[in-house]
Amino acid sequence: MKKINVAIDGPAGAGKSSISKSVAQKFGMIYVDTGAMYRACAVYAIENGIEITDEAITPYLDKIKIDIDYTLQGQRIILNGRDVTKRIREPDATVASSTIAVIPSVRLKLVDMQRAIAANKSVIMDGRDIGTYVLPDADLKIYLTASVAERAKRRYIEMLEKGIKCEISKVIEDIEFRDKNDSEREFAPLRQAEDAVLIDTSDMTFDEVCDKICGLINGILQLG
Ligand code: DC
Repeated sequence: MKKINVAIDGPAGAGKSSISKSVAQKFGMIYVDTGAMYRACAVYAIENGIEITDEAITPYLDKIKIDIDYTLQGQRIILNGRDVTKRIREPDATVASSTIAVIPSVRLKLVDMQRAIAANKSVIMDGRDIGTYVLPDADLKIYLTASVAERAKRRYIEMLEKGIKCEISKVIEDIEFRDKNDSEREFAPLRQAEDAVLIDTSDMTFDEVCDKICGLINGILQLG
């Protein structure tokens, strides 16, 4: 298969990670969850009592080492040698990840890592700025979205399945906070790239969304 890069962007809870994971598996591509990297930085700040501001966090950036281990069970996120795969999904890390993602020095560090991964492998990379900033030459760009109510419902179910206790009203509040933060920040905000395919998944099943994206990828592969 020729090397291709697929960028999947969209707001929190649009289904980017589960869809990307499934599509990546079908094509034997690597799935790169860039949100997990912002979350790992947030966990570092929380656990070391570092305020999430540019001045406070920037001096520590060299001390944050993030590794992604690709295993048969999925991707593990390792922060300075410790597996934080579950920790990064907790509510405090979720809120802090959106705040830390506003800081340009944090973004530049993580964007370097993301570009390096995509340089020599076929990847499906999901995030907020992949099509607009990280991989502007991606072979395919998708902007995946859904209504706030639908996204909150999905996120709520996902958290319960992972054993994380939460209330639906809190999940809605969190999604609205992050939508605003992610799309209104100055540097590389969440927005649809001009050449991205818009997919609103509010009334689509998981399989319908996967089939649609797989069809688009097959189209690109056939072009050779
Ligand atoms: O996709 P996620 O919910 O795991 O992302 C966590 C936060 O990280 C999200 O609120 C915004 C930020 N993020 C970002 O700014 N840019 C990315 N490419 C990915 C995530």
